[in-house]
Amino acid sequence: MTSDEWCAALFDRVTVMTINTKLNVHIAICIIFNSSLVIRNSSLKNMVTQFTPYTDYTEYAPDEMRTRAQAFYAEIRRRRTVRDFSDRPVPRDIIETCLLAAGTAPSGANLQPWQFVVVSDGAIKQQIRDAAEAEERAFYNGRAPEDWLAALAPLGTDENKAFLTTAPYLIAIFAKAYDVLPDGTKVKNYYAAESVGLATGMLITALHQAGLATLTHTPSPMGFLNTVLERPKNERAFILLVVGYPAADAAVPIHAMQKKPLEEIAIFL
Ligand SMILES: Cc1cc2nc3c(=O)[nH]c(=O)nc-3n(C[C@H](O)[C@H](O)[C@H](O)COP(=O)(O)O)c2cc1C
Repeated sequence: MTSDEWCAALFDRVTVMTINTKLNVHIAICIIFNSSLVIRNSSLKNMVTQFTPYTDYTEYAPDEMRTRAQAFYAEIRRRRTVRDFSDRPVPRDIIETCLLAAGTAPSGANLQPWQFVVVSDGAIKQQIRDAAEAEERAFYNGRAPEDWLAALAPLGTDENKAFLTTAPYLIAIFAKAYDVLPDGTKVKNYYAAESVGLATGMLITALHQAGLATLTHTPSPMGFLNTVLERPKNERAFILLVVGYPAADAAVPIHAMQKKPLEEIAIFL
């Protein structure tokens, strides 16, 4: 069997499974993920495009749509970036489900150029904290331009990052600018940053929806994450997401709650 035939057969299986049941959809997606490099290794342009009916769509009457949109807005507007975390453990399966949700994000050519590295090990969290605080000390004590520090001032952030060892999970999110095939060939991922940004947003939303708090952390620069987490060169650290329960006395900056009104963020033509 050539690799093209193998891929066509794989897609046949995926199509059949997609029609069957929702559980099978997950199985099919896993097969695609595990085989992604094999798929890319084949000549994509020679592959037959196959379609399956979109049966997962649900239409709502306008009133119900309105209710659902308002309910989601009411829910998501409660999300806050938290910097004081509890050390209470969070069941791993909840994190896994939220990662699966993030993995459904749209991506350029469906190349899914993200890598999530979930850290709960105390020693690794400590290494990340040590490296992040070293970068942040340099950032807050000279490296950052004055206007950047001024923009951060209302948030009250500084070089101390206790949350990196307190929170039960750190999810380091990497963007893959290219994939490396088994024979060493590099293949570009299109719109990697945009795609990983969308997946990260969906992950934050899924975690919030599950009842967890997050902090979108970007110690500057983040190259140390490749070293500590032993990630290859084609992966660039994108966001370090801190996940857990807020501490009982967690407080959030009022500045963060002030969101621009619709007239400022949207134009209808
Ligand atoms: C790309 C990005 C990078 C961020 N980096 C940091 C960071 O390094 N440290 C931090 O405390 N907050 C960071 N934040 C969180 C923002 O400060 C926060 O989202 C903003 O103040 C609005 O607050 P809210 O998330 O509660 O709405 C970052 C957010 C984004 C989107």
